[in-house]
Amino acid sequence: MIMKIIRADNKGEMGIHGAHILAERIKAKPDCVLGLATGSTPLGVYKCLRELNKVNEIDFSNVRTVNLDEYCGLGNEDPQSYHSFMMNNLFNHINIDKNNVHILSGKAIDVDAECARYEAAIRSLGGIDIQLLGVGHNGHIGFNEPSDEFAKDTHCVELTERTIAANALFFPSIDDVPRRALSMGIRTIMHARKVMLLCSGESKAETLEKALFGPITPRMPASILQVHPDFTVVADEAALSIVAKRHPHMLV
Ligand code: GLP
Repeated sequence: MIMKIIRADNKGEMGIHGAHILAERIKAKPDCVLGLATGSTPLGVYKCLRELNKVNEIDFSNVRTVNLDEYCGLGNEDPQSYHSFMMNNLFNHINIDKNNVHILSGKAIDVDAECARYEAAIRSLGGIDIQLLGVGHNGHIGFNEPSDEFAKDTHCVELTERTIAANALFFPSIDDVPRRALSMGIRTIMHARKVMLLCSGESKAETLEKALFGPITPRMPASILQVHPDFTVVADEAALSIVAKRHPHMLV
């Protein structure tokens, strides 16, 4: 088993652990390529990265970033876009050069061309050094929803009702949640040199156990990470409650 599981006492600790892993990478390679994620799970990581940058513990001036996904139909300035999320929670508060920030365009007219452009951009950056991931209740990573096969490259996705309902939290009403999104594919994610999955809360405990120890299947997209050569999970006790019962030897 090549995966490493780091158990944090709570969500706040999870953010601190996750941020320090990213910080080590930035210190070792100041122009590294970070793959970043949205959702409520990584907020603690971004808070800690802002603080480390403020006290000059880490320097983002040469760091490059690529984001996992974006909603179709939302412009960069839309408050609900992942573009705005990243600006508000991280990029506007750190010394990153915005020219080094890469996010899919939700307003692209030619969606296939936008996806191909993004794949080419990641390649021209030299690939992703470390990819941060959250996980949906149905096991989705990025917006790779459960399916009959693993989607490969960056592509357009029809969101499931469950994902739309979960993400409604960030919108005025469920009817405002876009039905489609652009997302890095599973191959894009698996090509990252290192992958770090964050997971918090009891409501994801069953999903996390299935993703880490169940069969590898596109019905549980996160399960593919079991075969990534450098895969770290940072999760809080609540999210690890079922793993702790069924696979206690896996927790250090
Ligand atoms: C969205 C994002 C995912 C994220 C997931 C979980 O669907 N596209 O990247 O992992 O939500 O979100 P949360 O962290 O809010 O539970």
